[in-house]
Amino acid sequence: MGLVRTLLLRASNSAWLERQAKQRAFVQRAVRKFMPGEDLEAALDAAQAAAGDRIGSILTQLGENVTSAAEADAVRDHYLEVLAAIRARRLPAQISVKPTHLGIDIDAAACAGRIRVLAAAASPGHTVWIDMEGSAYTAATLRLFREVRGAHENVGVCLQAYLRRTNDDLTMLLPLVPAIRVVKGAYNEPPTLAYPGKRDVDEEYFRLASRLLAMYQKGKAARPVFGTHDMALVERIRARAHELEVPERAFEVHMLYGIGTNDQRRLAAEGVPVRVLISYGSAWFPWYMRRLAERPANIWFVVKSLTR
Ligand code: FDA
Repeated sequence: MGLVRTLLLRASNSAWLERQAKQRAFVQRAVRKFMPGEDLEAALDAAQAAAGDRIGSILTQLGENVTSAAEADAVRDHYLEVLAAIRARRLPAQISVKPTHLGIDIDAAACAGRIRVLAAAASPGHTVWIDMEGSAYTAATLRLFREVRGAHENVGVCLQAYLRRTNDDLTMLLPLVPAIRVVKGAYNEPPTLAYPGKRDVDEEYFRLASRLLAMYQKGKAARPVFGTHDMALVERIRARAHELEVPERAFEVHMLYGIGTNDQRRLAAEGVPVRVLISYGSAWFPWYMRRLAERPANIWFVVKSLTR
């Protein structure tokens, strides 16, 4: 793992750096590359604009590790408002939530209860996605997913290809005919738990994607979702889908707002269902540091924002 990536991911946990960054207007300008604004309206407007390009969206309020049940309830209530706004504006949008934002640290059963409320409130066929956070939460998040999935079909979970355990986790989840979003993984994990080399992560991603496509074809997985901006990988997955005779409309590619926008439009124009994940909110610091860590060249955007 690159030293810069490790340092940026460590920095993502620094309360001091967070205070410093939030006071700097040039950092806020740089953050705008990945976020249309801090408030929900900005995210809804961005979702509307994406819909004009036949790109669906997923909305997520930034925030993690709440420390009280009242805060977690407020996050649930916020997402209920988001679901109502999506319906009111007739947007092709879903939501994605973080377990630690909905209180898994405080009470896992109550956290599952909050996600059940959201799944029940979402329109039929609109998936409520559960993000996957650092490895300390993997097992608890999968338990959460299994519990909610028992009552609601419209819930999906993210699996991280960099974790050595993920292939076994997928085997464990398959009896649920699960909706899975595969990503590479964005946290700072030790090599005992995660493949440290990019090539290994990419190969594992392709292996998981191939498994999901094959399972989908046999009716044993819901529509697979590939969350990545890695176009070489997306093209390999499209070729594998072709080999397996899985039509392109049967899977989705999800990307982050502000990254690979031209690829998003091109894939959508070619008939691949695409969604863009739009983040908003004031708690952007740890999330933004993870975006910088994914591509340390992004630090140049911060530097350039100094002069704007
Ligand atoms: P990779 O890092 O190899 O990048 C491929 C190419 O994409 C790069 O060469 C560059 O061109 C471009 N790119 C990638 N990241 C960029 C950036 N930050 N800025 C500019 N260009 C960039 N992770 C997690 O641990 N838990 C989760 O729940 C989620 N959820 C999630 C949802 C969705 C929809 C997406 C797209 C991603 C996530 N992630 C995530 C993040 C994921 O784990 C991963 O860190 C990023 O997607 C970056 O990896 P890529 O697959 O894009 O490949």
